[in-house]
Amino acid sequence: MIDQNTVQKIFDAANILEVVSEFVTLKRRGTNYFGLCPFHDEKTGSFSVSPARGIYKCFGCGKGGNAVNFIMEHERMSYVEALRYLAAKYGIPVEERELSEEQKRERGERESMIIVSAFAREFFTRQLHDTDEGRGVALGYLRHRRIPLEMIDKFNIGYCPSERDAFTRAALDKGYKKEYLVKTGLSIENERGVYDRFRERVIFPVQDIAGKVIAFGGRTMSSDKKVPKYVNSPESEIYHKGRTLYGIYQAKKSIVQKDRCILVEGYTDVISFHARGIENVVASSGTALTVEQARLIRRLTSRVTIIYDGDPAGIKASIRGIDLLLEEGLNARVVLLPEGEDPDSFARGHTPAQLAEYVAAEETDFITFKTRLLMKDAGDDPVERARVINDIVRSIARIPDNITRSVYVRETSMLMDVEERVIYTEVNKIRRQGAASRASVVTTTTAAAPVVPLSPCDVEERALVRYLLLFGTLELDRESGAATVGEFIIRELEEDDLTLLGPLYNAIREEYRRQLSSPAFIPSRHFLAYPDERVNTLAADILSEPYELSKLWSRQENFVESEEMKLVDFLPKVINNYKMRRLEMMILDVNNRILELQNDGNNGEEIVEWIKRKQMLDDLRGRLSQELGRTGVK
Ligand code: CTP
Ligand code: MN
Repeated sequence: MIDQNTVQKIFDAANILEVVSEFVTLKRRGTNYFGLCPFHDEKTGSFSVSPARGIYKCFGCGKGGNAVNFIMEHERMSYVEALRYLAAKYGIPVEERELSEEQKRERGERESMIIVSAFAREFFTRQLHDTDEGRGVALGYLRHRRIPLEMIDKFNIGYCPSERDAFTRAALDKGYKKEYLVKTGLSIENERGVYDRFRERVIFPVQDIAGKVIAFGGRTMSSDKKVPKYVNSPESEIYHKGRTLYGIYQAKKSIVQKDRCILVEGYTDVISFHARGIENVVASSGTALTVEQARLIRRLTSRVTIIYDGDPAGIKASIRGIDLLLEEGLNARVVLLPEGEDPDSFARGHTPAQLAEYVAAEETDFITFKTRLLMKDAGDDPVERARVINDIVRSIARIPDNITRSVYVRETSMLMDVEERVIYTEVNKIRRQGAASRASVVTTTTAAAPVVPLSPCDVEERALVRYLLLFGTLELDRESGAATVGEFIIRELEEDDLTLLGPLYNAIREEYRRQLSSPAFIPSRHFLAYPDERVNTLAADILSEPYELSKLWSRQENFVESEEMKLVDFLPKVINNYKMRRLEMMILDVNNRILELQNDGNNGEEIVEWIKRKQMLDDLRGRLSQELGRTGVK
């Protein structure tokens, strides 16, 4: 803990220009300074610093804040870590809370293990470069595998000699305690003494996100199948395999800049990609992905691309692991390599440009990938297809974000040729079960609120309701034919005889219509205090989520700031977009009805009626789509 007084001192001392200048080259223009944004890939300088206001802001990616925010964002530090960093920079003494004896001991132990590991890394690299055995055998092996010297340096690759205890002896001679050699797993102790775990292996040090060496992987140079290919450090107080990603330290900057993380399997895959200039790569080191690893990535980006060997068995096995990414709110894509290739061999066989092109061209959204893969296997077998649909629906149900979920429902409905509504019903069922089972674990007295299923137009309807709640009483120009935003929305819906499909949204719409003529009506207040708890909770939810709309209708992330200003532009789009959705749903229904009738060998008359109806709806869609074209929505 840092006391508030010190925090204040740090804030006062931290000069935004000095802090940023350490990482970004800035040029003065007027009262502000400009440079290339460190948070996204760009060629023009959209990144600005205002010394007067003590803030930075990027007009390209929207990132902005004060000096502490900059350090947090740029160095991926926590708030407290960033404060410490700045305190050190400005020589401000930080008052630390006293640690208990137990805490001191634990901290001492971890520190000792980190120090021993740093020594080991140093020892192994010296062995590789400065001994006959290392140069002859191990460097020869790395050369043969075409791992360039720069990569050997960048990843601190080393070598542990074949002698039984070369490392252990060197460490003990230097005064490192046996206890820590054994605890880190660098040395193994048994009845015959203490010896080296990694002897006669090429060493890949594993670093944490801050660059500290916390473990090692040792690869045998022998092709004898009986020798394990890799030997790895055991779990310890400093190394938790499931929380670690190989290469994260070398990749973090590039992951942030590219706003994407590439996930591969092993050490050599990461290194080969770096050698080809692709640096936003990490490896899960041959195990299934864990929640902690997903969260580690999440700190840097929400977009992940997984690169697989083109081996079908492997793919199926790892697919389950990817569901976990979805659950953590990450957007996952998949690249499949040609059969028989792994990322390492593929990278080595191609130029950097070819590699980048291949990844860009082959990247497929995970749900789409999974759907295609499983649907192909299922063929025409209806039982198999049902199973696949169920499986995909489960994946979709894991996605926490409403909007993303609905985008996937649309996508898979097309791919699987299943009505959206059917998928929604299933997704909602699973989510309700999930919510119920989670609720049953928690033994609080508050009963879980009944879950209201999502309608297929949930996103659009939520947007409309949000407009009602947030901007409903805003006045409009005469020419729009309505006095206020709320009135406009209500009238537009009534004109086309539309009620909202979501029961709660519709309840809000109806109540809003009743209140339209009441002069004291303030929508947000009215619905936040509404007696039906489901309605007031929904209103609170919607009012506290500022970014929903921008995600749907605008690619610009910093759009919301000016939402109110652009309201008049957006209003017709939001309405027409919704009408379009409803129209498409009707057309789908009619199409299905026609198909059914045809399948039943039904008489001509009824079909003709439906086809007429379909033509009418198609016409309507044509007109609406022109309208949307004019208002600028795709
Ligand atoms: N792995 C392991 N133990 C093994 C085999 C593999 O820990 N016996 C882990 C390693 O982290 C390895 C990853 O799983 O990097 C992927 O395995 P694999 O593809 O077999 O190894 P590569 O990294 O491709 O190594 P190489 O190119 O040297 O074969
Ligand atoms: Mn491999």
